[in-house]
Amino acid sequence: MKKILITGGAGFIGSHVVRRFVNKYPEYHIFNLDALTYAGNLENIKDIENKSNYTFVKGDIVDEAFISELFNLHDFDGVLHLAAESHVDRSIEDPLAFVKTNIIGTVNLLNAAKNQWKNNFKGKRFYHISTDEVYGSLGAEGLFTETTPYDPNSPYSASKASSDHFVRAYGETYGLPYVLTNCSNNYGSFHFPEKLIPLFINNIINNRPLPVYGDGNYTRDWLFVEDHAIAIDLVFHKGKNHETYNIGGFNEWKNIDLVKLLCQIMDQKLGRHAGDSEKLITYVKDRPGHDLRYAIDASKINKELGWKPSVTFEEGLEKTINWYLNNEEWLQNVTSGAYKEYYQKQYS
Ligand code: NAD
Ligand code: DAU
Repeated sequence: MKKILITGGAGFIGSHVVRRFVNKYPEYHIFNLDALTYAGNLENIKDIENKSNYTFVKGDIVDEAFISELFNLHDFDGVLHLAAESHVDRSIEDPLAFVKTNIIGTVNLLNAAKNQWKNNFKGKRFYHISTDEVYGSLGAEGLFTETTPYDPNSPYSASKASSDHFVRAYGETYGLPYVLTNCSNNYGSFHFPEKLIPLFINNIINNRPLPVYGDGNYTRDWLFVEDHAIAIDLVFHKGKNHETYNIGGFNEWKNIDLVKLLCQIMDQKLGRHAGDSEKLITYVKDRPGHDLRYAIDASKINKELGWKPSVTFEEGLEKTINWYLNNEEWLQNVTSGAYKEYYQKQYS
């Protein structure tokens, strides 16, 4: 039985990846390593917690001794690394937390994998999950390709760019077998309501203002999270060593247009009058260093591995909104306590 370590598996994307791997690959034992920060929640993976091929390990990737001991103990065959500080706004408040987890944590994992595997890299794989934000901002035209130069603008994207460079450097210097993907904005179930889509769904439900940064004319390329998990599965099993793949939704939306669409659907679902939720839109102070536009050219993963998104944005959004409306208890649990303090500080 292969032993696979997935980091950050109690978070948004990680929980979908862990679920997919545990259910689809009974021949693997999946170890989910997560520090359970504010963004990690065991409720996200409750449905698989008792599976015999699954073990949860609570721990911090910044703790070098702990990580090295974990690798000694389990001798993993593969690593899928998703644990990260992931929210741009929080990185503006506290860049060092991002340096610690995203850079030092990644290097700790790279060292542990290298030391454990150095006598025989055959069959081993370190998969680093990263973001399109490392490429910086696009103007009105063009797409990010795998050869677009790195040009990160926020402490978050700078820390992810740095971690990407370390992964490549370990491949070049030590021969560590790695694959790396850079993905666009995800949306779907179990998304923590500090990010645009779940935050706005939650605020519409509760009749709270919808804080649109700046003029709302910022563009993101949205991908349904389960399609990201499918891509991750494919790259882990079929991607070429030392290669990078961009993953995106072929689905660009200006924030303000997306927010208006959300408002329309929510009015229908909640039985409100058309236009009621749009009245909640409030333009607020812009995010410092706000990237204007992200858009991914995902033709490489399409051509080489045959991946493309399987659901349309309309289908994905419908599923997502239904999930939030049917899981109010989850929403209430994650928005109690520390969330309130964060919200007050960010949007006061
Ligand atoms: P998330 O914030 O929802 O989850 C991160 C998880 O990592 C949480 O469970 C958290 O507890 C855990 N974690 C944080 N610090 C840790 C530490 N020091 N040690 C161990 N665990 C720790 O993030 P997400 O949105 O699911 O993103 C997952 C990965 O995908 C990240 O690397 C992110 O950069 C990347 N990514 C995210 C998106 C997106 O749209 N959300 C898009 C592209 C790439
Ligand atoms: O592109 C991939 C990235 O997408 C991931 O690497 C990050 O982990 C993930 O958080 C996401 O980053 P963004 O900054 O694009 O996502 P966020 O949901 O925070 O913001 C999306 C857009 O909406 C962005 O232009 C800022 C805007 N926004 C966001 C919030 C939270 C608002 O206008 N108001 C808000 O309150």
